[in-house]
Amino acid sequence: MRGKQANKQAMKQGSELAGLESQPIETSDEASLVSKGCFSTSVRPVRVAGLGAYVPEKVLTNADLEQMVDTTDEWIVTRTGIRERRIAAENEAASDLSLAAARRALEKAGVSPSSLDMIIVATVTGDMPFPATASIVQHALGAERAGAFDLSAGCTGFIYALAVGSSMVGVGVCDTVLVVGVDVLSKITNWKDRSTCVLFGDGAGAAVLKPGGEHSRFLAFDLGSDGGGADLLKIPAGGSRKPITVEAVQAGEQYIQMCGSEVFKFAVRIIVQATQSVLAKCGLKTTDIDAFVAHQANIRIIESAVARLGLPPEKVVVNVDRYGNTSSASIPIALEEAEREGKIRPGDLVVVVGFGAGLSWGAAALYW
Ligand code: UT7
Repeated sequence: MRGKQANKQAMKQGSELAGLESQPIETSDEASLVSKGCFSTSVRPVRVAGLGAYVPEKVLTNADLEQMVDTTDEWIVTRTGIRERRIAAENEAASDLSLAAARRALEKAGVSPSSLDMIIVATVTGDMPFPATASIVQHALGAERAGAFDLSAGCTGFIYALAVGSSMVGVGVCDTVLVVGVDVLSKITNWKDRSTCVLFGDGAGAAVLKPGGEHSRFLAFDLGSDGGGADLLKIPAGGSRKPITVEAVQAGEQYIQMCGSEVFKFAVRIIVQATQSVLAKCGLKTTDIDAFVAHQANIRIIESAVARLGLPPEKVVVNVDRYGNTSSASIPIALEEAEREGKIRPGDLVVVVGFGAGLSWGAAALYW
C-alpha cells in the first residue's frame, strides 16, 4: 500500500487508536490532507519568511565593567572584541524579549499570530524552569492555534530550533512556525567573576518559517553533540543533580561556570568542521558562500575559524562588539541586522553555525 491510500489508512488507524469514532476521510487529495497537518509523502522546501530582533535598552560598556571587577577595556577588546553589551531590566524576562522580537518577525513576514501552528523557543534562561517560555509567548501573542515548547541546546539552540521547525513545515505537520532564540544571561552571570561576566549580554531574535521555493529554502543541517564536554560550560546547581540549597548559593553554583580556553579551542575546530560538513551535504564549497554568520562569542574565535575556511572578511557578519555573547539569540540578531543592512539578499547562500554548552554544535545552509 503506497501514497494516498497509505495516508488514508494511517489516519483511519490513528483515529481508531485514539478511541475516536472512525470517520470517513472526506478527501483523497494529499495537498488537502497536508493542509490539515497530516504528514506528506514528500518533503517541501522551507524558507525564512521574516526575521525580528530585540535587545534591551540598557548598555553596559567595558568602562562600566572596569568599575565592577578587576579588568580593563583593553583586555576585553583584545581578548574578545566586545566593547559593550545590553542588559535586561530587573522586570524583563525571556518571554518579554521574545515577544518583542517575535512581533517584529511576524510583521516582517506578514503573518498574523493566529496563523502560527507552532512556537519553538530556544533558551537556557526561560522565565521559569516550567512552564515553557514558548507557552507564555504563545498566550501573549494571541497565537491561539499554536502549539509551543522550549528547546535547550545552549548557544546552539537557535540552529536546533530551526532544524526542528523547518522539518515540521517540510513534512507538512505545520505550515507556519515561529522560532525564537532568546537568552537573558545577565541573570545567571556571576558579576564577581571577571573571566565570564565581561562576555555575556541579553537579547532575542525570531524567525518565521513557511513553505519556500527553489531559490529560497533550507538546504541542509549538520547537528552534533559531545556530552563528554558537559563540565566545560555549565550551571552546577538548580537542576535535579544538585537542587538549589543555601550552601550551593553561597558557593555561587547558581551561576555560569566555564573553562574558557577549552571552549575556545573546541569552537574554532567545530565551526570549521560543521561548515565543511553542511556544505558537503549539499554539494557546495566555501567559495559558494555569500554570507557567513557564526555564533557571536568572541571575535578571535570567528577570525580563526574564518581564516581556516578561507572566507573573505566582507562575507562574514560580526556584531559581537556591540552585543557580546547573547547565547541562543546571537545568530538571529546578527542575521536580522545583516539583512536590514543589505549584507544578505534574496537568493544568497547563507551559512549559519552555532556552538556552545553540551557541548553542542549545529550548522545550516540555506538560500535566503
Ligand atoms: O557561547 C559559547 C561559550 N563561550 C565561549 O565561546 C567563550 C570561549 N572562550 C573565550 O572566549 C576565551 O577563552 C576567554 C575570552 C574566555 C578568555 O580568553 P583567553 O585568551 O583564553 O584567556 P585565559 O582564560 O587564558 O586568561 C588569560 C589571563 C589569565 O591571567 P593569568 O592566569 O595569565 O595571569 C586570566 O586570569 O587573563 C586573565 N583574565 C582577565 N584579565 C582581565 C581573565 N579574564 C580577565 C578579565 N580581565 N576580564
